[in-house]
Amino acid sequence: MSVLIKGGRIVTAADDYVGDVLAENGVVTLIGESLGVPADRVIDATGKLVLPGAVDPHTHMEMAFGGTVTCDDFTSGTVSAAFGGTTTLIDFCMQTPGATFPEALAAYHEKIERAKPVIDVGFHIGITDLREGGTLEDLAKVPDEGVTSYKLFMAYKGAVMVDDETLFRAMEVAAESGALVMVHAENGDAIHVLVQQALAEGKTDPVWHARTRPPITEGEATNRAIQLAHVAGAPLYVVHVSCKEAIEPIARARAAGWPALGETCTQYLFIDETALEKPNFEGGKYVYTPPPRPKENQEHLWQALSTGVLSAVSTDHCPFKWDGQKTLGRDDFSKIPNGGPGIENRLHMLYSFGVREGRISLRRFVELVSTNPARYFGLYPRKGTIAVGSDADLVVWDPEKRLTLSASTHHSNVDYNLFEGTEVVGAPEVVLCRGQVIVEGDELVAQPGAGRFVKRARFGEELTARPVPA
Ligand code: URP
Ligand code: ZN
Ligand code: ZN
Repeated sequence: MSVLIKGGRIVTAADDYVGDVLAENGVVTLIGESLGVPADRVIDATGKLVLPGAVDPHTHMEMAFGGTVTCDDFTSGTVSAAFGGTTTLIDFCMQTPGATFPEALAAYHEKIERAKPVIDVGFHIGITDLREGGTLEDLAKVPDEGVTSYKLFMAYKGAVMVDDETLFRAMEVAAESGALVMVHAENGDAIHVLVQQALAEGKTDPVWHARTRPPITEGEATNRAIQLAHVAGAPLYVVHVSCKEAIEPIARARAAGWPALGETCTQYLFIDETALEKPNFEGGKYVYTPPPRPKENQEHLWQALSTGVLSAVSTDHCPFKWDGQKTLGRDDFSKIPNGGPGIENRLHMLYSFGVREGRISLRRFVELVSTNPARYFGLYPRKGTIAVGSDADLVVWDPEKRLTLSASTHHSNVDYNLFEGTEVVGAPEVVLCRGQVIVEGDELVAQPGAGRFVKRARFGEELTARPVPA
């Protein structure tokens, strides 16, 4: 099967030019001007952008959390991703306490066997316990399975939170095994005390989710994780950075040349803490962690994205329905399952309000949503760019298409949209994953199972491009 995309403006993190792209058997085999080669399918991309498929390094499909389970599985979640131009996601394969790492991996492989993804999927291993089931020896072997990042939570006390000993031991293993350590950085002990005090005072509304997780608790944990990773000699990636207090230690570490990386998520760039005050429990929709912050943080985040202090934008897609799941905490904010949806709208929002409004360049946009996640999570240059030998994960992007984001039209199972009613300009027209068209206009063309599990290279190593067919 071959596809020729003609006359588009090809944009990667490094380049921006008009040309044609030929994909054969899932791989980009030729790039040039006015290619006169035959192909099974020709797509006219005149006036459109041709982008590398986006990579979302932070999602939670069908994950048990907060007393319930996220409402997208690997089918609905990946369909939603595909409609937004994302062709690879990396999800958290969570170790249930007491389980071994091989057991955790087997359970997640079963999930993608059953709920067949339409885009490619990788896993991070989520470490919750290194005392009962999880051993350091097994952890050291996880990267051999193509799962080359370890995720630890410094918050959610009594659930998935680990102590500093566990965090540090995992970092030491990572320094040897070549894994990238990812942290959810918040001081879970202090937050636990603040939550108990608020509840004791009868403060039960969603807004207390933010008031009991002040930015300094994120800043402190971010700094602690950075210092511990430095002692262990491990590379570190701080997930969902939401505020100035967490940006600052990352900036300092990077200025010192330490391998400290950070991402933010779409929602932190656009939603502020006042959303939690919406009446009639509408505020419950915005209970994700870290919480939406005071608005001034958004400028700090944009600044950090444009100066390279932050390296990626993910979604932290962790969808719980408002009706029946978020409402579990109607009378007690601490019982609202933490997480928000967004996998479909990352590129819409960033292109419209980042690129079009001049906050980031088009190439930086590609770098933040595709190239850097691919690079730091061992997928580059197979993914994250458009080059001969890379996977033909391609998005033909219509820069003028107008769309109103809404739960009534998105493809996730979740019953609300964080950006409900937002009008965006710019959206995918055609999306290809390994040379197969998976989305065309408003149609899903992919068959379930079009996506594959992708084994990733270790941190700092490259996933070699595929041989180009003769
Ligand atoms: O609220 C969130 N972010 N839920 C998902 C788990 C996590 O902390 O990433
Ligand atoms: Zn988190
Ligand atoms: Zn998350």
